Amino acid sequence: MQIAPMHDNPDYILLLISPRDIADRLGRSMQVKSAAKSAIGMAEMLAHEIKNPLAGISGAAQLLSMNLPPEDREMTDLIVEETRRIVKLLEQVEQFGNLRPPERRAVNIHDALDRARKSALVGFAAHLSIVEEYDPSLPATFADPDQLMQVFLNLIKNAAEACKGEGHTIRLRSFYDHSLRLRRKSGGPAVLPLTVEIIDDGPGIPPDIAADIFEPFVSGRENGTGLGLALVSKIISDHEGWVSVESVPGRTAFRVSMPVAPKKLEAS
Ligand SMILES: Nc1ncnc2c1ncn2[C@@H]1O[C@H](COP(=O)(O)OP(=O)(O)OP(=O)(O)O)[C@@H](O)[C@H]1O
Ligand SMILES: [Mg+2]
Repeated sequence: MQIAPMHDNPDYILLLISPRDIADRLGRSMQVKSAAKSAIGMAEMLAHEIKNPLAGISGAAQLLSMNLPPEDREMTDLIVEETRRIVKLLEQVEQFGNLRPPERRAVNIHDALDRARKSALVGFAAHLSIVEEYDPSLPATFADPDQLMQVFLNLIKNAAEACKGEGHTIRLRSFYDHSLRLRRKSGGPAVLPLTVEIIDDGPGIPPDIAADIFEPFVSGRENGTGLGLALVSKIISDHEGWVSVESVPGRTAFRVSMPVAPKKLEAS
């Protein structure tokens, strides 16, 4: 609920009541965007600056290890290995900062989903089955095809990482949903009827981080960077779309809502 005085008549106030769920999510998404922007800008600069001295540290440790008997190399190996891990993390941060503005065109959402599914099945999701429940009649969306695939790939990767062991299934659903309407930055209404859900039957999002998973560097995994969902959130917001999640143990569903491509573009 929001209360504000009326400018032209101080005897009155304006009372704005919206359903709690949507108000929460909108407020949070604004915070996430600005937090992500400043955290990433800063982190990107740091990443760049830290990589050089790290190369020195790693090189020095390797030199040191040459003069050590094998049984004493454990510590230098640790330095080299951990340095490598930091460099990888920094590269991910830099990649995040380098994200270019989307080159949007009319795109079949199922093509992007299929590319992500195929790439997942030959790699991190080889132990899972991925089933498609598509509505083939969906019109094209207006998106950068590579970035859209990156979004789906990140969501499938998270689902696969949550579903350890054999016998799990990831479901990819697509359908038309009229109900989601948002206000664009420009003020006009945004209708986002093209809906994709990525649903897994894993343990669910850890409750202690559930409210913050779209923020950068929030991870519930031991080796997680916590940048996957921040990237998803950034790409989707650059496309004026919407991403949300519902999770209970045994069922986690990420939902991506996208606009329909403008009519004149659909033939291209
Ligand atoms: N499908 C899911 N099921 C359960 N937990 C999830 C799921 N998707 C995300 N999470 C939780 O949200 C956290 C944040 O995800 P995010 O993709 O941002 O980072 P990450 O996967 O930990 O690291 P990165 O993607 O950078 O390698 C995950 O660490 C995990 O705890
Ligand atoms: Mg991830």
